Amino acid sequence: MAWQQLRVQVRSDQIEPLEQLLLDYGGLSISYLDAKDQPVFQKEPGSTPLWDLVDLVCLFEQGANLDGLLFLLRQHAAIEDKGSLTLEVLEDQAWERSWMADFKAMKFGERLWVCPSWQDPPEPNAINIMLDPGLAFGSGSHATTSMCLQWLEKNVRDDSTVIDYGCGSGILAIAAVLLGAPRVIAVDNDPQAITATIENAKRNHIPEGVIETYLPVQLPDDRAGLQSDILVANILAEPLMQLAEDLSHLVKPRGCIALSGLLAEQADGLLDHYSAWFEMDEAVLREEWAQLSGTRLN
Ligand SMILES: C[S@@+](CC[C@H](N)C(=O)[O-])C[C@H]1O[C@@H](n2cnc3c(N)ncnc32)[C@H](O)[C@@H]1O
Repeated sequence: MAWQQLRVQVRSDQIEPLEQLLLDYGGLSISYLDAKDQPVFQKEPGSTPLWDLVDLVCLFEQGANLDGLLFLLRQHAAIEDKGSLTLEVLEDQAWERSWMADFKAMKFGERLWVCPSWQDPPEPNAINIMLDPGLAFGSGSHATTSMCLQWLEKNVRDDSTVIDYGCGSGILAIAAVLLGAPRVIAVDNDPQAITATIENAKRNHIPEGVIETYLPVQLPDDRAGLQSDILVANILAEPLMQLAEDLSHLVKPRGCIALSGLLAEQADGLLDHYSAWFEMDEAVLREEWAQLSGTRLN
């Protein structure tokens, strides 16, 4: 079976009336895509922030007559760039898994690979993380995850307790275990991330209990029992700023911290803020992203 796919660029504050029009003409599904490669992260659990400019993509049955809809869209005030309007025929495929084609095995540092769970690892004797990110963030392809993986590869020892704060798919927590950490604590405020982390830990044959998972509200009030040699947090500048003191209580004296998820221009503000608790190193930059690291003061 084939489908008709209509695509048009629109400002995010103009989506609602257009959506209704698409549905009135038999639209079966509507997706929003980033029209200008503008980074957007989920700030509050349950919130759905959008890019300023969105590619609205709508699927229709192959036989649907869209002449009237195209006529209306070509003169719709909400569409500033009329040239962005396209209609194409799509052949059917396994849509729900089609994103997998873009997820390839990747190497980080000297020893670490992240491999799609449905493929054989290219280097069977390397440290291979077998991953299905599911709905959670963290396949290794993002610069921030990649910088954290390389940092973990250099810093995890076989007696390190590691905290992965903002675990997403669990990629960093699992990397820490496979690099030798005997105890890893994975924290995320999104229950889907906790589920993905547990599933991915099983997929990597990590014995139950080695990775402990917590929503932030489930963390024990007394942080002493959780204090780690290494804490890695790939979140966003704003929560990293707010969480700084709490994260500092989760790191042992002379333990290490690595922060990512911040933009290069946000590095100085965070370096300054974290210097209250950590001796901070120079920022590492990749693409528009930064990674910070430091050692807990006594
Ligand atoms: C950018 S993803 C990182 C995922 C993975 N650790 C990686 O490096 O690819 C950030 C994760 O942090 C979580 N997160 C954001 N704010 C948080 C907060 N205040 N407390 C705990 N988790 C948070 C998000 O739900 C998301 O799963």
